[in-house]
Amino acid sequence: MRIKDFAIERYFAKHEFTAKYLLSASDPDGFSLKSVLDIASEKEKESWRDLHLGYTETKGAPALRTAIANHYQTMVPDEFLVMSPGEANFCLMNVLLEKGDEVICMSPAYQSLYQIAESIGSRVSFWKPEEGSGWYYDPAQLKALISPKAKLIIVNFPHNPTGFLPSLAEWNEIINIARNHNLVLFSDEMYHGLVHDSKDQIPAACDLYENAVSLWGMSKTFGLAGLRLGWLGSKNSALLSKIEAWKDYLTICNSATSEVLATIALNESEHFIQPNIEKIKGNITLFKQFQERNPDLLDFPVPMAGSTAFIRLKTSLTAFKYAEELIQRTGIMMLPSEKFDYGHQHARIGFGRNNLSEILDIWEHFQKTAP
Ligand SMILES: Cc1ncc(COP(=O)(O)O)c(C=O)c1O
Repeated sequence: MRIKDFAIERYFAKHEFTAKYLLSASDPDGFSLKSVLDIASEKEKESWRDLHLGYTETKGAPALRTAIANHYQTMVPDEFLVMSPGEANFCLMNVLLEKGDEVICMSPAYQSLYQIAESIGSRVSFWKPEEGSGWYYDPAQLKALISPKAKLIIVNFPHNPTGFLPSLAEWNEIINIARNHNLVLFSDEMYHGLVHDSKDQIPAACDLYENAVSLWGMSKTFGLAGLRLGWLGSKNSALLSKIEAWKDYLTICNSATSEVLATIALNESEHFIQPNIEKIKGNITLFKQFQERNPDLLDFPVPMAGSTAFIRLKTSLTAFKYAEELIQRTGIMMLPSEKFDYGHQHARIGFGRNNLSEILDIWEHFQKTAP
């Protein structure tokens, strides 16, 4: 298979570990190994100390899948397959899609959500939001994109980069569109649980629809991206088994150390999720104040959930050129919308990092002193 470069990831590869400041990261600051081990129960501490570094079960350790299942309404441990999120997406698309199939995917989107489908030879139609209505994704527009050849709908809520989250009624509408057309729904829920108001929380797709596949993982909600662990949840056991068989050609099984640490974090999740939500909310307030002081620089549709927002830049430069100027003159890395294949006017902002206030001060100074 030939595949286009993953533009966002290539841009991060270039800047993430050399830029002084990251303004657009989607993952919250990573928690330390110590902070995970300190909160482990005695039994979990023992399983860490006595861990044997051999191969692990392809599906994921039973204790880990039990810890995962506890975060869902109706799911049982056997309805999960643990693997890295990118790998999960790659396997699912390859198992499900053939040349000529039609796929509907949100746009803008994390590129792998549509790029693998395109590389397989599927035709992708894009479900686009209304910027003036807070990046609203209208279910009626999704429905209008369904054709007789459609096989798969791909959604991502809370959405990267806009932070959009449907209401429960809209979520049920989306699920009913998939159900009524007998389509698989791939629901990328990497930001699940990062809701700024707990009453906005919606259930995972796999809890509501037997032909849905939900993806979640440790990177965003839990601030543990270095574990490189995620999972697919689905009641469609035949589909899950096929994905498991594909995994044999990739990692075969997960890292034993990551599995134990993820189990601890999932069992003690309040130590990770709530602090991340509080940090994100605090940073959104700071960013609102920044926007109010700089109304000619940008528009800021406030995100409903997740750890990112998609701002409109009002500069005369393209977003890409502006981002280049910013990093060269200040060391601040900003992700421009060109990397989402979404025009030249927007940029993603990340709210999960402790140093946002410092970054905004530097950005404001740059803006005031720019020639
Ligand atoms: C929507 C979405 N899906 C999947 C991923 C991949 O997650 P991970 O970095 O844990 O592999 C990301 C990461 O940015 C993402 O934003």
